[in-house]
Amino acid sequence: MKSYEKLLLENRAWASEKVSEDPDFFNRLAHLQTPEFLWIGCSDSRVPANEITGTQPGEIFVHRNVANMVVHTDLNLLTVLDYAVNHLKVKHVIVCGHYGCGGVKASMTKHNFGIINKWLRNIKDVYRFHREELEEIKDEEARADKLVELNVQEQVMNLAKTSIVQKAWAHHQRPHLHGWVYGLKDGIIKPVFEMPAGTHIDDLYEFDDL
Ligand code: CO
Repeated sequence: MKSYEKLLLENRAWASEKVSEDPDFFNRLAHLQTPEFLWIGCSDSRVPANEITGTQPGEIFVHRNVANMVVHTDLNLLTVLDYAVNHLKVKHVIVCGHYGCGGVKASMTKHNFGIINKWLRNIKDVYRFHREELEEIKDEEARADKLVELNVQEQVMNLAKTSIVQKAWAHHQRPHLHGWVYGLKDGIIKPVFEMPAGTHIDDLYEFDDL
């Protein structure tokens, strides 16, 4: 059997197991999704949003990219965020990074990765904002892990800088923004940063005509 054929076979088994547990499962989901959470995570295959949070289809709206970035010119991310906040009306947005992130580690090198450089540039900027704090950490792996945490924090702040989030905060007192980091070595998620709805951000980034 080819590797991809196994995926299709496993899918059949999964679907019939779901139906045997709950005959209405697919009927219900086919008509409506009402997730409470938007998850912005890393594309890394070892960090599957549903599995590590014990959630079912329909519970988390998911966007993933390399190093869980919130880039202001990323139409893909902005579309997902707008849809989740304004149409699905999610109550929480979670940016979840992970220790040992290859994207974060790559951003700390001088290696030329071609087109990927343009994406990693955003993480290099996070490093530059926090250079002093990071360079006090001599151990290479520990420094990369600290950058993972600071990157998650910066991406949560990038969410708060969007008019999408500021407008929802002003009119609906949601979503609550969370920065989490998942540990590949123990499977545990550590909350590292949060911004409840209405958190004051730097004046420079606040819009007044929401
Ligand atoms: Co990663």
